[in-house]
Amino acid sequence: MKAKYFLPTKVIFGEKSFQQLFGELKDANVAKPLVVCGKHFTSSFKFSSLEENLPVFESFTDVESNPSTQTVDRAAQVLNEKGCDAVIGIGGGSVMDAAKVVAAMKNSGKKSEDFYRRISVKEKVPFFALPTTSGSGSEVTKYSVLTLPDGSKKTLRSDKFYAKVAIIDPELTYTVPRETTAASGIDAFCQAVEAYWSRNAMPETDKFAQEAIRLAYHNLFKVVNDPDKAARYNLSLASLRAGQAFSNTGTTACHSTSYAFTKYYGLVHGFAVAITLPWFFEFYSLKSGEKCMEISNILGAKTIRQGREKLTELLRSIGAPTGLEEIGCPRSDFPKLVEMCLVNRPANPRKHTAKDIERMLNELY
Ligand SMILES: [Fe+2]
Repeated sequence: MKAKYFLPTKVIFGEKSFQQLFGELKDANVAKPLVVCGKHFTSSFKFSSLEENLPVFESFTDVESNPSTQTVDRAAQVLNEKGCDAVIGIGGGSVMDAAKVVAAMKNSGKKSEDFYRRISVKEKVPFFALPTTSGSGSEVTKYSVLTLPDGSKKTLRSDKFYAKVAIIDPELTYTVPRETTAASGIDAFCQAVEAYWSRNAMPETDKFAQEAIRLAYHNLFKVVNDPDKAARYNLSLASLRAGQAFSNTGTTACHSTSYAFTKYYGLVHGFAVAITLPWFFEFYSLKSGEKCMEISNILGAKTIRQGREKLTELLRSIGAPTGLEEIGCPRSDFPKLVEMCLVNRPANPRKHTAKDIERMLNELY
């Protein structure tokens, strides 16, 4: 039987929707939330709004990029020691990924690392997700990618990680710096493309993915190089739609192979995913030709070759690296990269072998 589309999160989108957080907290009878956010957010105008509108709250501001399981454990300790009854995550994908796991650790008595063996949630507090970047889509997914003590990145997935409410206010993205905008925006674009060619795609995800691909493709350059309100709005919507799509399909090899580039060369997530996108686009076109042709058409290309070129052009136009030499990867690293990139996800339209990855690395050099 085919899977049915499932997303239990209440989604609120629009400029100034941030203010709706307070009504949602009231409706959920939240008395003392834990705000998980980046340090810089505490000096923002929106943080003052939290202070004005929330009589009591605790905050945890120590979330790094590619958050570690230890960070999640420290935030969960605050949740439990201070008796908080909700988690509000305000930030980029890293904050979202950390905050959703924290919300599932109420009185758990365990470490987040234990979830990799078995996700047993004793008690859960509601999670309110407010993304400040247009990219990860994590506010509407059940996935959390955390970094383990050995430096490896691994995905946790559980229905327990869904946000109760996701509020996507494009105004929160206005002050995001250029490189973060580029990296998170291209992540959204890749997530949409990967959802579209996924073996798990279904009519609902196709609709969301198509809208996301179109919106991201036509607004990303503008938002990175000369942002205005309309383009920011469109990219926020693209990111949400990509999330609504890949929440149900998962991602494919661009994502699974990205972890190697982040681990060894410190490449930011969105760029690490995007660097292989043009290559996999052509590789998958042999198995998923119709979908790849449709993607080409959305980009205004008539052939797969042209589509691949358009994708590379898009990366260049926003300052994303397109070659392995550019990111400081020596050829001598290829064997360890091949080994790390071998994992095939069930959603992949076509399985890749060690030989395929070797060919990819050579072509991307
Ligand atoms: Fe991603």
